[in-house]
Amino acid sequence: MNFSLHGRALLLALLLTSGAAFAADGAPETTPAATTSAQPVQRPGHAGIASANFLATNAGFEVLAKGGNAFDAAVAVASTLSVVEPESSGIGGGFMATLHIAKGNRNVFIDARETAPMAVNPQDYLNPDGTPNRDTALKGPLSAGIPGEPAGLALLAKRYGRLPLSVSLAPAIRIARDGFKPDPRLLASIKGEQKDLERWPASAAKFLPGGQPPVAGEVWRDPDQARTWELIAAKGDAGFYHGEVAQKLVDAVRAAGGNWTLQDLANYRAKERTPITVDYQGYRIVTAPPPSSGGVAIAEILNILRGYDLAKMDPAHRVHIIVEAMRRAFRDHNDYLGDPDFVKMPLDMLLSPFYADGLRQSILPDQATPSSMLPHGPAHDPGMHTTHFSIIDKDGNMVGITSTVNYILGSTFVAKGTGVLLNDEMDDFALVPNKPNVYGLLGSKANAPVGGKRMLSSMSPSIVIGKDRSAVIGSPGGSTIITQVLEGILHFVDGQSARQIVADKRYHHQFLPDQVYVEDGVFDAATSDALRKMGYTLKPREAWGFMNVVTWDHRTNTLDAASDPRRPSGLGKVE
Ligand code: GLY
Repeated sequence: MNFSLHGRALLLALLLTSGAAFAADGAPETTPAATTSAQPVQRPGHAGIASANFLATNAGFEVLAKGGNAFDAAVAVASTLSVVEPESSGIGGGFMATLHIAKGNRNVFIDARETAPMAVNPQDYLNPDGTPNRDTALKGPLSAGIPGEPAGLALLAKRYGRLPLSVSLAPAIRIARDGFKPDPRLLASIKGEQKDLERWPASAAKFLPGGQPPVAGEVWRDPDQARTWELIAAKGDAGFYHGEVAQKLVDAVRAAGGNWTLQDLANYRAKERTPITVDYQGYRIVTAPPPSSGGVAIAEILNILRGYDLAKMDPAHRVHIIVEAMRRAFRDHNDYLGDPDFVKMPLDMLLSPFYADGLRQSILPDQATPSSMLPHGPAHDPGMHTTHFSIIDKDGNMVGITSTVNYILGSTFVAKGTGVLLNDEMDDFALVPNKPNVYGLLGSKANAPVGGKRMLSSMSPSIVIGKDRSAVIGSPGGSTIITQVLEGILHFVDGQSARQIVADKRYHHQFLPDQVYVEDGVFDAATSDALRKMGYTLKPREAWGFMNVVTWDHRTNTLDAASDPRRPSGLGKVE
């Protein structure tokens, strides 16, 4: 390795980093905001929806048929996923949404991320010897943030939908009340978490009817969840954050050792924020701002990549350059990002083309940069839950929502009498400084837990808007969300169809551990050999996200919707 070139380049990147860190303004976004840009003006005349479950996709179309727009359909899809895919997202979790509103060509972002309860105590997440307590961080009520999903959906419906919640929540209420046949992934998730579900009577009552996980073909009902959605349909978010449900949530959480109060629930607000936008090869990418790290990382990576002609590179060099860009963006993720309402972040610097120029100088043409040569610290294998869906409606409204309860079946804790499975999103805070979370992500003080603060997320629902083609792209996958969405964007820009994008094999680098996670078959033997010669460690990884993509070809005015073949229950449909 040419250490003198490398050293000089790193010095330049570091000078840019530290110089700008103090000068740039990372002021919090506390007011509703929207951006405008030059965008398509056609109407497709038909709609496309892609989600992780066919019942949810169909719920979206049901609501479109009742006169709803993409945002009403999104409420239907999200609430139905809460019933049929509770291992990934739901009423006790939170989401992030990127919206393109056709009328006025506006781009909007909704942050319905959970918040820490005011009484959060970092000591609760430590063992007596000071090591991280994985149980309190991931299971039971201490692991749960105050849910954002009901407030976010109510806000989405009220500001951007056309229909009352009673219509857009009707499919979820009906499916929860009448029942459905769980898909193999939900059955496996319940079986896998059985021991933890048995720790809490309301969790066992919901997920282990008769004391056992449901079996294939059995109809499974969730009348408590149906009733909670009915209250939200009747009263808006007050049906969840005030009154009967709020009281039951607080009683259940406190009885099991948690620390929520009625005030925590009453104080919760979903927020509109200015989305991150970045231009790349003639496309405008609209994506997630903090408290997601995803959009900042995607923008930083694309800003680095714009200095290369990737199309002219052989596969190994193309991957090399993309991985080096990922490495540098994840380093910054670890160091700087958190809830914009609580921390000042050097976003102007991180999103600046000049900063990307400096980082590009530190990338060697034929050799991996060891992460140890770039300042900062440890991690482990990323996990993968959460869900994403994409919608484009007949008027050209577009929405991508990534929604989560965090790990499989969240905290596994159900609040008695509500059907609400609580998230375990508290683990997305840097609970113990410099110790990795379940996704192997490290955090700094910027992501330390504080009452009322939102934990950093990787969720990156993204809309790519071009003259000829546009797309809504997103995926679950913990920390790999960011790189999967990035790869989806790059494949879309290369001209791939929705079907190809969701099926593409994937790879991932997150700064630490310093290895490239690879899906079986992503690189041919020659590319793998060339990458190893450049200094990369390739680590096979079985679990990859579940991408749902809708594309719109403005030249033919046609939509295409595709759901990731890795999970057969998904459905991408155009009608
Ligand atoms: N809970 C995973 C994420 O928000 O990134």
